[in-house]
Amino acid sequence: MVNFKIADEKLAEKGKEALYIAESKMPVTAKVIRERFEKEKPLKGIIIAGCLHVTKETGNLARTLKAGGAEVYLCGSNPLSTQDDVAAALITEGINVFAWHGNTDEEFYWCIRQCLDAKPNILIDDGADMIVTAHQEYAELINSGVIIACQEETTTGVKRFKAMDKQGFLKVPLFPVNDARCKNQFDNELGTGQGIVSAIYGMHVLFAGKNVIVAGFGHCSSGMALRARGLGANVIVTEVDPIKALQAKFAGYQVMPIVNALPIADIILTATGCKHVIPPTKEMFDMLKEGVILGNLGHFDIEIPTKQLYEYAKQIKPIRSNVEELTFPDGKKVYLLAKGRLANLVLSEGHPSEVMDMSFALQSLMSEYIVKNKKSLKKGIIEIPTEIDDQVGYLKLESMGIKIDKLTDEQYNYIHGYLEGT
Ligand SMILES: NC(=O)c1ccc[n+]([C@@H]2O[C@H](COP(=O)([O-])OP(=O)(O)OC[C@H]3O[C@@H](n4cnc5c(N)ncnc54)[C@H](O)[C@@H]3O)[C@@H](O)[C@H]2O)c1
Repeated sequence: MVNFKIADEKLAEKGKEALYIAESKMPVTAKVIRERFEKEKPLKGIIIAGCLHVTKETGNLARTLKAGGAEVYLCGSNPLSTQDDVAAALITEGINVFAWHGNTDEEFYWCIRQCLDAKPNILIDDGADMIVTAHQEYAELINSGVIIACQEETTTGVKRFKAMDKQGFLKVPLFPVNDARCKNQFDNELGTGQGIVSAIYGMHVLFAGKNVIVAGFGHCSSGMALRARGLGANVIVTEVDPIKALQAKFAGYQVMPIVNALPIADIILTATGCKHVIPPTKEMFDMLKEGVILGNLGHFDIEIPTKQLYEYAKQIKPIRSNVEELTFPDGKKVYLLAKGRLANLVLSEGHPSEVMDMSFALQSLMSEYIVKNKKSLKKGIIEIPTEIDDQVGYLKLESMGIKIDKLTDEQYNYIHGYLEGT
């Protein structure tokens, strides 16, 4: 029996098409690993709960985990990113889904609890909400060892678990999948970079000649800066880290504090993982230019101060799907994407399947690793084994028909030794 609460079961056929498109672009997760999992069943008897963006790519991860023998539960990791057609298709394949686009905060946590009620052995989170809820409300699953280990998909989640670990509150073995090279160097940089362009495309604005402010110069934000510049924008970067700020400057961008950037910005994009990147005051809001577009790609809806903007606006008018026009008391209009939530996921289906292939290959192989090593895992943060990161890299290259060189023994010894000098 499949358990679910979704928007509309009738959307299943459309969802199957979406899953099919993603599958053809995910040769590592949806073919190589899935075919091996089907034969070997490394996840037999294991229940996996994923709190993830319920997209066509996540659907393919769920299929691969199921092919490996797992019983899979899914809930959304953001109230606005669920693709309802994909959710409908997945339940026809026996994947348990509790997710629908536009759920309230209360419903969001209800969906998480439905997944935890299934007594999962592995949790795959995106943003820490499910694993934190497990610590707060399902301690018996942790204390009894039902939960063997957890995996975290995004930077914000990893930062939270590092803070929990430091303060002694993290009670499970936690694998920060986000920090693997095959994840953040492609998913965060390429995915988010390309995603914002397609998110903003719905506004039909030209990037060329615009002042685009990119807050942050980390993995996601540097990708966004690169794509915006590629489209001809004058990119201005704001940072709080001196080294990242220097990197941005030497990459050819203007760098300045956000307060100086606000009055000249045509488009402001945030992806920092920090709150109130635009300071939440009337004075700051009044500095904004008429018609400025505000888009956040960081995990939570607090980088652009959405709540305070809504309070300040005298009128909020939806002008198209997931775009709102906010009119300020002086009549100025600004445009907010996706209610300040991950604009690339809400407006344009998230990252291209090709990059999610690597992220979800890592998640699949890490689930297998957890089961194989369950007896020796200790609570706390455990780095992703380099062999698994490399394995995903090799599989992806192979799927693209690319071969690379291999170190000879002599070369290996040279770069790992110190005796050979001038
Ligand atoms: N939209 C997506 O699809 C997607 C994908 C991956 C990650 N994320 C999320 O994006 C956010 C950033 O992730 P990342 O991997 O790029 O992190 P990162 O740590 O690589 O980069 C964040 C950068 O922001 C800078 N920063 C922090 N506070 C700032 C502030 N107030 N003003 C200006 N700069 C500031 C930091 O110094 C850092 O350089 C996280 O919330 C992450 O979870 C979103």
